[in-house]
Amino acid sequence: MTEKVKLTWNGKEIEAPKGSNLLKAALDNGIEVAHYCYHSGLSVAGVCRMCMVEQDGVPRPFPSCNATCGEGMVIRSDTPKIKASVEATLQFHLLNHPLDCPVCDQAGECGLQDYYMKHGQYDSQMIDKKVHKEKVQDIGKNVMLDAERCILCSRCVRFTEEITKTNEMGILNRGDHAEIQCNETLKNDYAQNLVDICPVGALTSKDFRFKQRVWFLEDVHTTCIGCETGCSVKVSENKNGAFRVKPVYDHEVNGHWMCDDGRYIYKHVSSPTRLGGAVENINGLFVPADELNVQAAVKGKKTKYILSTALTIEEYANFFNAVKGKNVEVALYTLPSDGPEFDGILRRGDKNPNLRGAKAAFELAGFDHSQAGLDNLLGSISSSDAVFVVVPEILYNEDHFNTLIKKVEKAGVRIALACGETLGTLRAFNYLLPIPAFLEKNGEILNYQGQARKLRKGMTYGEASKDVSYYGKWVNL
Ligand code: SF4
Ligand code: SF4
Ligand code: FES
Repeated sequence: MTEKVKLTWNGKEIEAPKGSNLLKAALDNGIEVAHYCYHSGLSVAGVCRMCMVEQDGVPRPFPSCNATCGEGMVIRSDTPKIKASVEATLQFHLLNHPLDCPVCDQAGECGLQDYYMKHGQYDSQMIDKKVHKEKVQDIGKNVMLDAERCILCSRCVRFTEEITKTNEMGILNRGDHAEIQCNETLKNDYAQNLVDICPVGALTSKDFRFKQRVWFLEDVHTTCIGCETGCSVKVSENKNGAFRVKPVYDHEVNGHWMCDDGRYIYKHVSSPTRLGGAVENINGLFVPADELNVQAAVKGKKTKYILSTALTIEEYANFFNAVKGKNVEVALYTLPSDGPEFDGILRRGDKNPNLRGAKAAFELAGFDHSQAGLDNLLGSISSSDAVFVVVPEILYNEDHFNTLIKKVEKAGVRIALACGETLGTLRAFNYLLPIPAFLEKNGEILNYQGQARKLRKGMTYGEASKDVSYYGKWVNL
């Protein structure tokens, strides 16, 4: 067990692991200390000089991010000397900064804005003209760079050096002309973490820019369903829709980061084509349908279910309860691997978010979850069958999904239980019935390690009250 030490910070006694980072100890204990360059997922750079502290017995202030905790240390970050130091450093950071907060996407969650307001530094002290740098640079991977907003904290440089090891970001030139630059274009699969760690609005997301003000959004802490890793994430949303996905620190699974694929898992949830109720396909056009007519179409037909791996453990259990003892066939549809099994950081080739949970539920209910089970079901489809394909979310590999749909075409009635009609392939179905998206339900999925990961319910955009077990009750009506 790590040895703990006791120290005092602004008169408050705190505890921290011996030798751990001094600034982190304060932040972990709820003590506010200004800092820009420090990030607990990266090495220490000590370049912004905002986190200065005084220590009893030490003659001069020093940056707390570059010091370690020792027994009995007496630290102060609230003395007049430190306040003056923070204000002077802030002035320095603001010298060439454009202070264009009203049009900056970082406004509301910007470290520079927070502190210049806190210290009342509204007016520039510069008598010389500010140095202007290039704005609105598309540096690839959905990231925009505004070089004159950059405070040269070097977080982005360290991220591409230490985490992705792709070294795209660097600081060029000296003095006033020092500037953050991207070596041609970002090419790593984690690039949007740069937007998260940039403490100012120098790096922003193309996907999120100018869509919403952050103070109009609420965060739902949930789990990414983009692959079998199951990263902790938060989805920012309001009644107008879901707008972005960011990682939530999770010591056991994803640490501070998430991959770029996971940034797009929200797109279908509030899409304009989201299903608001049952629809029927009339000559290629989906028109609202009476649910009773859909039930009538299914009546007397042999019912076959193909479930995807994107349901929660609870949904599988409720579904198998609903069809228990009924004459029904059920098979599991899994997406093929997309890329290497593991990229060495987080991303897994297996894009089936709850494969383990699905397999366990099939086994418990006595159904075959193997590819052979699916092939058997598909091979025996005839015009006297009603086939339900349950696909709340298919985020990747539409081509593979199309192949499945083609094999279902022989069925007399084809029904998709889906979130939206965003997939062109859903046009091969006679009926579409709405089920909740991952952001509209509470439940658990099992990741590649078998860890239970929680999905949490935010707002509802489609008609999400009826889940797969509701439709399961239609079997043998
Ligand atoms: S772009 Fe952002 S993260 Fe990179 S050095 Fe500038 S302020 Fe820091
Ligand atoms: S690694 Fe997988 S679970 Fe994590 S953010 Fe990427 S797609 Fe989502
Ligand atoms: S946070 Fe300590 S010097 Fe930047």
